[in-house]
Amino acid sequence: MTDGRQIIHYACVSSTQSVAKKLVSLGIPTGTVIVADKQEQGRGRLDRTWISPAGGLYASIILQVEPLISLRAGIAVAKGLRELGIEAKLRWPNDVMVEEKKIGGILIEVSGSRAIVGMGVNLVPVPLESATCVEEATRVHITRDQLLNSILQWMEPSLSGKVVEEYRALSATIGHVICVESKRGKLIGKAIGIDVAGRLLVESAGVVHVISSGDCSNLSFRDNRAEKTVKR
Ligand code: BTN
Repeated sequence: MTDGRQIIHYACVSSTQSVAKKLVSLGIPTGTVIVADKQEQGRGRLDRTWISPAGGLYASIILQVEPLISLRAGIAVAKGLRELGIEAKLRWPNDVMVEEKKIGGILIEVSGSRAIVGMGVNLVPVPLESATCVEEATRVHITRDQLLNSILQWMEPSLSGKVVEEYRALSATIGHVICVESKRGKLIGKAIGIDVAGRLLVESAGVVHVISSGDCSNLSFRDNRAEKTVKR
């Protein structure tokens, strides 16, 4: 990260994104990380709420806007978890998944020339059927700061090398029959790849669609009895 890495810690905030935005307007340096023990108005992508009880990881990193930053942040969270023994993958665009459940997410907001990269990881259970948490994914006790340090280390630009290749290798979406909902509506098809700009390539009825934003769910997965297609 450029200009050092100051970590500012809060016990409770509305959202680390809002705090970071305010600090950017006050001239805080690039590289600063805002962390909170809990959030009262945690925000997710697509105007969703991010449930943020005490015990989770809620962090916003102030960086320069750069291409593929959202993929880079997803890779850092997935690798940070993997380094601690949790087999995390990425559901396009950057939901962090363990098997079929979401364990973390990334929210990027832009403020002038800065990107505020919000990262949330469930360390403790949250009341959502579709979610899991670190406590459920491993028997090993992992602290918030251990996980944060592991993630931040993967955010170093020197490690950012081949972003798209790394993203593809961690993908939980490529090769699956998916439903993707975007501004253009709902599309069901097979995810066949990610292009150099991080867009999702979906083949449906012989046509390849290039999707640049949206929300994705897998309609096919392997279970241990047989390969089958199920609606989730
Ligand atoms: C998603 O919808 O998957 C993105 C979730 C991002 C949540 C994090 S928690 C830290 C930062 N502060 C917020 O209010 N949101 C992001």
